[in-house]
Amino acid sequence: MRISCTVNGEQRRADDVWAGESLLYLLRERLGLPAAKNACEQGECGSCTVYLDGRPVCACLVPAGQVQGREVVTVEGLPVEADGLHRVQRAFVAAGAVQCGFCTPGLVVAVHDLLTRRPDPGDPEIREALAGNLCRCTGYEAILAAVRLAADRSDHRDDGLDHRADADRGDGS
Ligand code: FES
Ligand code: FES
Repeated sequence: MRISCTVNGEQRRADDVWAGESLLYLLRERLGLPAAKNACEQGECGSCTVYLDGRPVCACLVPAGQVQGREVVTVEGLPVEADGLHRVQRAFVAAGAVQCGFCTPGLVVAVHDLLTRRPDPGDPEIREALAGNLCRCTGYEAILAAVRLAADRSDHRDDGLDHRADADRGDGS
């Protein structure tokens, strides 16, 4: 089947997509966007987290056919500043929250989403928001520090992404 969707603000198309193919495969193997990582392919690790119509999803669990006509934003599509980094990415670097980096793209999207909904989250909120994003390297303390740092610098209202208000949530996404 042919899939057409918006990815990081651009209209993209892929032909001969297999019905059982995932959004993650579509992004990585067909559209040349390797940032979302394939670690478990079972929705357990969060390394493939991307936005789908403004909601974070595990791209490995979304059938590619379901993104027809929809909007996908990956970590490559977050707005960056002069140094080429989004402020969340910069906070991860500054806090030493990146080791092998495999979990980082998914975590950056998850933290971006959290700070859009909760610009000044407490540690319990951070832990809850990131519960679906596993990291084998850092022990999580550096990640917590990165989120606190990003929150201090946070002005996520002008980041060009259209997010649902927290009050609209509650469906477990
Ligand atoms: S690769 Fe998608 S959740 Fe692990
Ligand atoms: S930095 Fe290696 S898995 Fe998180």
